[in-house]
Amino acid sequence: MSRTLFVTTALPYANGSFHIGHIMEYIQADIWVRSMRMSGHTVHFVGADDVHGAPIMLKAESEGLTPQALVARYAAERPIYLNGFHIEFDHWHSTDSAENVALSQDIYRRLKAAGFIDTRTIEQFYDPVKGMFLPDRYIKGECPRCHAKEQYGDSCEVCSAVYSPTELIEPYSTLTKATPVLKSSEHFFFRLSDPRCVEFLQSWTTGSNANGDKRLQPEVLAKTREWLGTGDADSAAKLADWDISRDEPYFGIPIPDAPGKFFYVWLDAPVGYLASLKAYCAKKNIDFDALLDPEGDTEQVHFIGKDIMYFHALFWPATLKFSGRKTPDNLHVHGFITVSGEKMSKSRGTGISPLRYLQLGMNAEWMRYYIAAKLNSHVEDLDFNPDDFIARVNSDLVGKYVNIASRAANFISKHFEGKLAYLGDVQSLQDQIALVADQVRADFEAREYGRAIRRIMAHADQINQAFDAAQPWVMAKGISSADDTQKATLQDICSRALAGFKALSVMLAPVLPALTDKVAKELFGSSSGYLWADATELPTQISPFKHLMQRVEPTMFDDLFEPPAAPVVTPGGEAIADTIDIKDFAKVDLRIAHIVNCEEVDGSDKLLRLTLDAGEGRHRQVFSGIKSSYTPADLIGKLTVLVANLAPRKMRFGVSEGMVLAASHNDSKVDAGIYILEPWPGAQPGMRIN
Ligand code: MSP
Ligand code: ZN
Repeated sequence: MSRTLFVTTALPYANGSFHIGHIMEYIQADIWVRSMRMSGHTVHFVGADDVHGAPIMLKAESEGLTPQALVARYAAERPIYLNGFHIEFDHWHSTDSAENVALSQDIYRRLKAAGFIDTRTIEQFYDPVKGMFLPDRYIKGECPRCHAKEQYGDSCEVCSAVYSPTELIEPYSTLTKATPVLKSSEHFFFRLSDPRCVEFLQSWTTGSNANGDKRLQPEVLAKTREWLGTGDADSAAKLADWDISRDEPYFGIPIPDAPGKFFYVWLDAPVGYLASLKAYCAKKNIDFDALLDPEGDTEQVHFIGKDIMYFHALFWPATLKFSGRKTPDNLHVHGFITVSGEKMSKSRGTGISPLRYLQLGMNAEWMRYYIAAKLNSHVEDLDFNPDDFIARVNSDLVGKYVNIASRAANFISKHFEGKLAYLGDVQSLQDQIALVADQVRADFEAREYGRAIRRIMAHADQINQAFDAAQPWVMAKGISSADDTQKATLQDICSRALAGFKALSVMLAPVLPALTDKVAKELFGSSSGYLWADATELPTQISPFKHLMQRVEPTMFDDLFEPPAAPVVTPGGEAIADTIDIKDFAKVDLRIAHIVNCEEVDGSDKLLRLTLDAGEGRHRQVFSGIKSSYTPADLIGKLTVLVANLAPRKMRFGVSEGMVLAASHNDSKVDAGIYILEPWPGAQPGMRIN
C-alpha cells in the first residue's frame, strides 16, 4: 500500500555553518526518504533554518548586524552543503516566515482557548550589567542533579536533566560574568502538568503508528517514562509547566495581545516544520490542511538528535494535540557523531569540516556510504574514524561493488557488442536477488542501515566469488575462434555478474544516488531513479564501462584534519588577518571627510597633500601616497574615508593628521593601481563609519 509521509530533520540554528553532525542527520534522513520513495511512497521532505532566539540576536548584535542579515549569511551557504552531499530536501524554509508567524500564533490562540495557557509572574535571572533578562543558554553553573560543572541554564548535557536556571548552583552570566539577579516579570506557561496532557502523552509515547510500528525507539520510550512517570498519580506530577514567553529585547514571534512578549524559540521552532511544509504545499498546489488532517493517513516523521528528545517527545506532540492538530507518528532519534573519539560541541564542529571535505574534492558518496555503514536504528553515538573510513570505502565499496562492473563489463563490450544473455534458468537468479533486495529494503525502512550495507556487501562477495570460480578470463582466451557454447558460457557468466551489479546498484541507490544514477544512465542505458522493483529486472545491454569511483587516498585526511584552513591569498596578495571582535574594530574611528583642497608636494613623487573637512569645524592636513594614481583635480570636491583617531605623524613636509583609505596590492612591486575609497551619495562629512 502506498503511504504518504511528511518527513523532517531538526531545524538547525541559523547562527552557524553546518557541521558534520548536521550532515550526518541529513544523510540519515535522506537515505530513508529515498528508500521510501523507491517503494512507491509519496514523501514530502522539508527543512528550515531555526532563526529565532537570544543567541542569534546577541551574535548579530556583536557583529553589528540585524538578526535577519546574520541569518541570511548562513542561509546563503546551505545549498553548497546540501547539494554537495546529495541531500535532497523538497523545500527549505525559515522560522522567520509569514507561514510560521501565522501558524505559531494560531496554535497559541487555540491552546489558550482550550485552557492550556497560564499567566504567572515569575522571578527570573537578569543580567544587571547587560540590562536584559538572561536566556537560559547565557547562564552557566553546576547541574543541580548530577553536579556536572559548566552546564547551561536549561538542561544538562551530561545527565539530560531539564531544569530552570534558578536551580543551577553558583550561576553566572556568560555575557558579562556578572552574578545574575532575580527580577520579576509576567510569563506565559503551557500547562504540561494538566492531567489531559499527561494522559495524552502516556498514550502517545507508548503508541504505534498506522503500520503497527512503535512510535518511539525503546531507549526513547524509556527516557519519556523517566520524565512522565509510569502512569500513577505520584510520578505524573513530575512534569513541570513549560515557560513559553520571553521579554523584549528578543528576536522572535510576538505573542498575540501581549505587548513586549515573544514566543520562546522552542515554541515556534518545531512549528517551522509545518511552516516549511505549508510553503512547499503552496508551491506545489497541495492542500496543506488536508495533508495534515488529524484523521488523515499522512505519516509525520521527525529525524532528530538525542539532545532534543524532550522537546520532540513531550512539548511538540502536546502542543499539536491540544491545538487540534495532527500529532507526529514517529520520532527517529539518532546519537551523536564523534570524530576519532572526540566529542564536538553543539554549536561548533570539530575535526571534520563538511565544507572543507567538499572543497578538497573528496567524494560526498564516500561519506554517505561510510555513515550508512555505521548507522543503526538505535540512539547510539557513531565515531568517524579515518582508517575505518578508508578501509570501508576502498575495500568494500570500490573493491567489492564497483569492481564487479569493471571486471565483467569489459568482456561483454569486447566480445559481445554490449549484449547480455543468460543461459538456462534465470528464475532462481531473480529469486535470489529478490530475497536480498527485499531484506535490504526492509533494513532501510527500519533504519538498520549498517545491516543493509552488510547484506549488500555479503551479496557482492557472492557475486565476485561466482565470477572468480567460473574463471571467465580463461574462457576469454582465444574466444574469437571458440565454439558457441564457450561463447555463450562466457556471456552468461558476465551477464549474471552484471545482473548482480545492477541489483546491488538498486540496493545502494538510497545511499549512493549520484553513482547509481550514473550506473543506470551510462552503463545500463536506463532512465535515472531506481525503484526497488528494478532490482530483479535483468539487464540486456550495456554501454562500455566508464570509470565509476576513485579510491580514497589516505593523504587526503592530512588536509582534511589540518588545523584552520590554509589562508587563501586574495587578489590583494595578502591573507585575511586574524579575527578581531567588534570592540577591536570600534577602536578605529572612521569618518566621512570632504576633500576641500589637494595639491602636489614639492620634493615628493609619491605624496599628495589633502585638506580635509571631517565635520569638526576645522580643517585637517593629511599626506597620502596616492600621486601615482590621482591628480589633485581628480580629488578636489570628493568625499572619502578618514581614519580620524590615528596619532598625528610628523613628516618631512609637515604634520599628517590622519590617513585616508585606499586599496592596493600588498606587494609594492606589483602595480595593480591605488583606489581611494568614496562613500555612496548622501554621506555627510563627519559621519562615523561602522
Ligand atoms: N534548532 C534546534 C532544533 C530545532 S527543531 C524544531 C537545534 N539545532 S542544532 O543546530 O543545534 O542541531 C540540529 C540537529 O543536529 C539536532 O538534531 C542535533 O541533535 C543534531 N546534532 C548536533 N550535533 C550533532 C552531532 N555531533 N552528531 C549528530 N547530530 C548532531 O537543536
Ligand atoms: Zn546533570
